[in-house]
Amino acid sequence: IMKKREYRIFPICLLLALAVCFLAACSSGKGGTQESPGASKSTSKSTSESANGSGNGVDDSGESTEAAEKKLRIGVAIYRYDDNFMKLYREELRQYLEEAYNAEVVVRNARGEQEEQISQVNEFIEAGYDGIIVNLVDTDRAGVIADSCHEAGIPLVFINREPKADEQARWKTEKMVVSCIGTDSKQAGTYQGGIILETEKRGDFNGDGVVSYVMIMGEKDNEDSNYRTEYSIKALEDGGMKTEKLFSGHADWNKEEGRKLAEKALALYGRRIEVIFCNNDAMANGAWEAIDAAGRKTGKDIYLVGVDALEETVQYIKEGKVTGTVLNDHTGQSHTAADVLMKMIHGDEAETRYLVDYVKISTISTLQK
Ligand code: BGC
Repeated sequence: IMKKREYRIFPICLLLALAVCFLAACSSGKGGTQESPGASKSTSKSTSESANGSGNGVDDSGESTEAAEKKLRIGVAIYRYDDNFMKLYREELRQYLEEAYNAEVVVRNARGEQEEQISQVNEFIEAGYDGIIVNLVDTDRAGVIADSCHEAGIPLVFINREPKADEQARWKTEKMVVSCIGTDSKQAGTYQGGIILETEKRGDFNGDGVVSYVMIMGEKDNEDSNYRTEYSIKALEDGGMKTEKLFSGHADWNKEEGRKLAEKALALYGRRIEVIFCNNDAMANGAWEAIDAAGRKTGKDIYLVGVDALEETVQYIKEGKVTGTVLNDHTGQSHTAADVLMKMIHGDEAETRYLVDYVKISTISTLQK
């Protein structure tokens, strides 16, 4: 009896299964055609970093097609991909835009070429993107990009490398939907000086009342470089120390260049050097290699500070190779950039400038908090 029943049930199951397959094929067909325009948009940009697997979020409701169409498309232009700090920044920015706003994000690398970046932004504009985020190559060219976005009616946010104050003022007077997210580099410099003042010898190993230092700077004419340099020394002097600059140079935010400059300084000034200030951590990591090669010992006969709190530098601090750093909050900055851009896309007013705080990191206990 059982067998007979099974035979009767089987054709019904088969029919049901075929019907289910047929329906599934219909719905996946819909998803496929919906996905392709989005996918071709991102893959057509050969240098784009788009890893956008979205646009295929089709469910059975039938409303997903509409939702996919409405996905906001955001273009992000980065000054160069081989910058350690900006790598953290852009990765966080993409993830946050995708996860918090379900946006479709295309990120482009200008490889340090301002003209290339301008054409990348123009491509975003021509493609009708909903919002654009730019990490300028040359801050003096902010106006060109701001004007193009303004004419096209596309909200724009500058990140990290801040346009000059008069350009920022223009956005306000000309009612442009442009904003920038920056940091107070004076604060970073002040924290660096503060870290040296907190050390046992207040930066003065030989006890002559003078902190003899080397300054390894980022790029020339860069606000972060200028203020971090000026305010780190100002903090030492405000803290009652005299200072003597033995050597300084620009290492363009780059580890290897930082190592080379520190090596040169150590060869020229040897034991006279008590502190090496670096405008960022990549250069501090390089400087540590030079310190080590010269047989010097961080914390024992020399101090070394950076800015950013890169993972490697934080590890170096734990190992005593670097004295301290200042957290350049790429998470806070990227989230603010995305939030402000979204606000503007939705027609809400935004400030011209937002600042995200730095955090001083000098001891293992701070690191463990
Ligand atoms: C960071 C540097 C980075 C630079 C790029 C600075 O805020 O501290 O590490 O190279 O931004 O513009």
